[in-house]
Amino acid sequence: MKVAVVCGGNSSEREISIITGNAVYNGLLKNFEAECIVCDNARDCLDKIIKSSPSVVFIALHGGFGENGQLQAALESLGIKHTGCSFAESNIAMNKFATKAILKKLSIPTAEFKLIKKVEEIENIDFYPICIKPNNEGSSVDVNFANNENQAKYISQNLLKKHNELIIEKRLSGKELTVGVLFGKALPIIEIRPKSGFYDYKNKYTKGATDYIVPAPLENNIEKLIKDIAVKAFEAIGCKSYARIDFILDGNVPYLLEINTIPGMTPTSLLPKAAKAAGISFEELTKMIVEGAC
Ligand code: DAL
Ligand code: MG
Repeated sequence: MKVAVVCGGNSSEREISIITGNAVYNGLLKNFEAECIVCDNARDCLDKIIKSSPSVVFIALHGGFGENGQLQAALESLGIKHTGCSFAESNIAMNKFATKAILKKLSIPTAEFKLIKKVEEIENIDFYPICIKPNNEGSSVDVNFANNENQAKYISQNLLKKHNELIIEKRLSGKELTVGVLFGKALPIIEIRPKSGFYDYKNKYTKGATDYIVPAPLENNIEKLIKDIAVKAFEAIGCKSYARIDFILDGNVPYLLEINTIPGMTPTSLLPKAAKAAGISFEELTKMIVEGAC
């Protein structure tokens, strides 16, 4: 069986995607015939996939058309099997506002939020301090904090030059946790402790910049609560194979930050760490994901 690993893309996470793609490609070689396809845009990816004629496409693209459902929809319409979520779930999960609206409906704790498209809309925010981030990005790209309206306006003005929509959230403080979910089951929870600042792009991808504690030291009832919420959210958006769900534990309340439908698989990434703690090697993890493709 031939697996085509697609990576690259044109989002701000391109470099990370190439690292994920290479790691996945090497992980698959033990069990499958594999090809690593580095592509630039949706058309280029699709052309290269069709030329490769694989049995399964392993989508190792982060952000943009590879994670927001566009490529998934194209592959589905061509009857080409791919890993991860289908186009509809991908589209919801990549949109932080849509995800949070669903979480709110399900009474899953998520920080108070508002979507803005114009800087003037900042004037309606009354829950400082806040976190300001693009509504459709990953890897903590362009995540900022503001304590008051002036700061918020300045930051939003700059971010709106690059992004159409920003999500404004009440800033939380507490333990940063993440839960991998594999075929409906939660993996051991990881606590993320950056050595300085918050878990931004640099702390995510610089070796040694962040300590990871797995399993996270949590009371049993909190651990169970977080795992249950992660699985509930995974199912609510319709995921079936794998995702990584991020939380901040503020007091005893686990606030869900977001659902990542194509979590990083780089050497510093979290899903492979959680799988390893559950006794699943990287080779087995990639094999399971391929076998779950539809
Ligand atoms: N968006 C990055 C790759 C992650 O969720 O791990
Ligand atoms: Mg993310």
